[in-house]
Amino acid sequence: MYSTFSSKTEIKLGDGLKDALVGSSKVLIITDHFMVQSKMTEYITRHLEGVPHTIFSEVKPNPDVKTVVKGVEVLLDFRPDTVVALGGGSPIDAAKGMIFFAHQQDSSVKVKFIAIPTTSGTGSEVTKFAVITDTDTDTKYPLVDESMLPEIAILDAELTKSVPRTITSDTGMDVLTHAIEAFVCTARNDFTDALAEKAIKLANKFLIQVFVSPDNVELRQRMHNASCLAGIAFSNSGLGINHSMAHTLGAHFHIPHGKANALLLPYVIAFNAGLYDTLTEANKRYAKVARLIWLDCANERQSTMNLIRAMRNYISKLNIPASIKAAGVTRQDFDKVLPLMVESAFNDPCTSTNPRECTREELRELFIRAYEGKNAV
Ligand SMILES: NC(=O)c1ccc[n+]([C@@H]2O[C@H](COP(=O)([O-])OP(=O)(O)OC[C@H]3O[C@@H](n4cnc5c(N)ncnc54)[C@H](O)[C@@H]3O)[C@@H](O)[C@H]2O)c1
Ligand SMILES: [Zn+2]
Repeated sequence: MYSTFSSKTEIKLGDGLKDALVGSSKVLIITDHFMVQSKMTEYITRHLEGVPHTIFSEVKPNPDVKTVVKGVEVLLDFRPDTVVALGGGSPIDAAKGMIFFAHQQDSSVKVKFIAIPTTSGTGSEVTKFAVITDTDTDTKYPLVDESMLPEIAILDAELTKSVPRTITSDTGMDVLTHAIEAFVCTARNDFTDALAEKAIKLANKFLIQVFVSPDNVELRQRMHNASCLAGIAFSNSGLGINHSMAHTLGAHFHIPHGKANALLLPYVIAFNAGLYDTLTEANKRYAKVARLIWLDCANERQSTMNLIRAMRNYISKLNIPASIKAAGVTRQDFDKVLPLMVESAFNDPCTSTNPRECTREELRELFIRAYEGKNAV
């Protein structure tokens, strides 16, 4: 038995795009409408004078299969040697899906893939994951393949200054969830721990500061770095049921990914740690997370409870709903899709690395707790 840690993506901290584009002679930019309207795409096109390029800007939040199929057609038709994805996790994931399926259709498709995140959240610029939604079945499919890893990531926090407060808070909680899940999951190792620990410390120190002072680029850069560090961690370790549940909850009720993760986090920690029944081994890991952010005490159960309180405090300060009900989902709508959500979360690839094995019934109970807002502490 062995595990592998790899990190193929070259990370340029700051405005390193000019160098990243050296040698590119035909460029496809994949992004969303906002990036075009706000002229943020000029961040790329200013370097492309005389270089043939085109922009595919039809990606919407939670990219769907149809958009990916359209993008594959554009890719196969335009034949770029470089793809640059600009935006949050949605355009970067869509670009990954397009490159992956274009290559499956025509193995001669080989591109330099540059990812430029404009939110500090998903870490998609360094992960082998892409989350694509099937809108016909309201299902989010995490694709996992090494070939989707970008060659180069540009981490320039200047691009995140325009992120509105609500997206700063949602995506920031996504960072914390990635780092915590990577730190407690079954496939963690010393390498992923090192990255997850740093990401937890950075997010703990800077998330609220960025929320309060959104124009401060230095603070923004630290959250951008935290997001990327957490991304490398979980790309190697996997995640857990927080993400499994958030994927299906987000797909059914159109709750942004980070918000769905955030509102579930206190309930998932309590379940994994065994606070609703009997303490588990995972409780020790959560107590260690508490220690990283100076919330621990002599009693490990109490340490985990302190961590949960801290997460709830973030949720409150960042104006994130504290339950599925508070997110505006009616009981009727929730009950209607609950069996589907349970099945989907149970089969989600993230469930396989959750620190506590769980049954469908346990997932059902957990969804109900999170709906009703029944906290453990
Ligand atoms: N690949 C992975 O490893 C991974 C991990 C977690 C989540 N995801 C997926 O990523 C998606 C979520 O990505 P996200 O949270 O980054 O949001 P997003 O990409 O969906 O963007 C959300 C909104 O923010 C806007 N936005 C982005 N950057 C902005 C900026 N600089 N200024 C102003 N507005 C800006 C976008 O235009 C959009 O309207 C989901 O589909 C989720 O499932 C992927
Ligand atoms: Zn996430």
